[in-house]
Amino acid sequence: MSEQQEIYKGLAGVPVDYTAISKVNPESNSLLYRGYPVQELAAQKSFEEVAWLLWKGELPNSDELAGFVKQERALRALDPVVKKVIDDLPLTAHPMDVVRTAVSVIGAMDPDVEDSSPAGNLAKSIRLFAKLPAVVSYDQRRRRGQELIEPRADLDYSENFLWMTFGEIPEAVVVDAFRISLVLYAEHSFNASTFTARVISSTLSDLYSAVTGAVGALKGPLHGGANEAVLHIFNEIGFGPDAAARSEAWLEKALAEKRKIMGFGHRVYKKGDSRVPTMRAAMVKLIDYYNRPDVLELYVGLEAAMTERKGILPNLDYPSGPAYHLMGFDTLTFTPIFVAARITGWTAHIMEQLSSNALIRPLSVYNGVDERHL
Ligand code: COA
Repeated sequence: MSEQQEIYKGLAGVPVDYTAISKVNPESNSLLYRGYPVQELAAQKSFEEVAWLLWKGELPNSDELAGFVKQERALRALDPVVKKVIDDLPLTAHPMDVVRTAVSVIGAMDPDVEDSSPAGNLAKSIRLFAKLPAVVSYDQRRRRGQELIEPRADLDYSENFLWMTFGEIPEAVVVDAFRISLVLYAEHSFNASTFTARVISSTLSDLYSAVTGAVGALKGPLHGGANEAVLHIFNEIGFGPDAAARSEAWLEKALAEKRKIMGFGHRVYKKGDSRVPTMRAAMVKLIDYYNRPDVLELYVGLEAAMTERKGILPNLDYPSGPAYHLMGFDTLTFTPIFVAARITGWTAHIMEQLSSNALIRPLSVYNGVDERHL
C-alpha cells in the first residue's frame, strides 16, 4: 500500500485557479457575475446582455449590443446537416445526447474550428449561443411528431426560443420567467461541467470539444440532470390534494432507501442557494398565471419535509424544474435548456483558461498492489 498522503476526494474545498467571471459566496448567499449580483441582472437585463457581460467583463454599450444581437439573430437557423443528424437519431436517445452530438457536428462543420484566438473563440461562442435554441426546440418538437419552426429575427433570444419550441409567443410573465431562468443558470464558477470544459481547453483542444465534454458532465443527475429529476419526483409523489402529508410519507420511504433527493443540497452552498429566491418568485408567478396551486402545495410540502427531516435546502433545480413544466416543456428538455444557458459561462471560462493556460493534470495516490514481477 502507498504511504499516507492527504487526498481531496471530489476536489472538495480545493481552489484550483483564479477566475474573474463569477464569485460564489456561500457565507452571504450571494452570486456575482463580473461583480454584479445575479438578482439585479435577472431583474433588469436581457439574456443577451448577460452573455456579453460574462464574455467581455462589462455590460455592452448600445452599439455593442446592437452588433451582437444582429450577429446572433443571423445565426439562429438549424443547419440542414445538423437537422439531418438529429433526424437520424432514435427518439429514444436522451435529448442531452442529441445536444451533445449537435454541438460536436456544429464544431466539425466550422471551418475556423482550430482558430482559438480570443476573437475566434468569441465568434464560436456567439455561434453556439445562437444555434442551441434551434437544436433544443427542434428535438422536443420531433419527439412530439411536430415540424421544425424557423427562427424569427424580430424576436429577442428568450421569445424566439419559446417561439421555435411552441409556435407562439407566450404572455410576458412566461417569457420573463424563462429569461430569468437562463440568467440564473448562465454561470456558477468551477462547477463540474465548467471544470470539465477548462480541463479540455487546458490541453489546447478546441472550444467545441470542450463544450461537448461539458454537456456530458452536465447530463449527470448530481449536476444539471437534477432539474429533470425533480419533475420525476413530483410525478412519483403525485400532484393533487394532501401534498404535504404525501410528500412526508414519500420522503421517509426515499430516505430509508438511501436515495438522494434531487433538487436539494449543494457542494458549495450549505445555507441555501443564492439563486433559489429569484427563481421561486418567477415560478410562483407562473403558478398564479396557469392557476396551478397544486404545484405550489407539492413544492412547499416536499421542501418543508426535507428541511425538517434532513436540514438540506433546495438548489436552483428545485424551482426551475416545475417552472419549465408549467411553461409546457417536456421533462426531458429541462437539462438541454440548462445547456443553452450555461453555454455562456462555459465559453467565458474556456476563454479565461486560455488567457493564462496551464495544463490541468492533478496527481493520484497509488493504492494498488506493491511492485511485483513475472
Ligand atoms: N438528498 C439526500 N441526502 C443528501 C442530499 C440530497 N439531495 N444532499 C446531501 N445529502 C446528504 C448526503 O447523503 C450526506 O449525508 P451523510 O453525511 O449522512 O453521508 C450529506 O448530506 C453530505 O452530502 P454530500 O453528498 O457529501 O455533499 P456533496 O457536497 O458532495 O453533494 C450534491 C452535493 C449536490 C452532489 C448533493 O447535495 C446531491 O446529490 N444533491 C442532489 C442532486 C442535485 O440536486 N444536484 C444539483 C446540484 S445544483
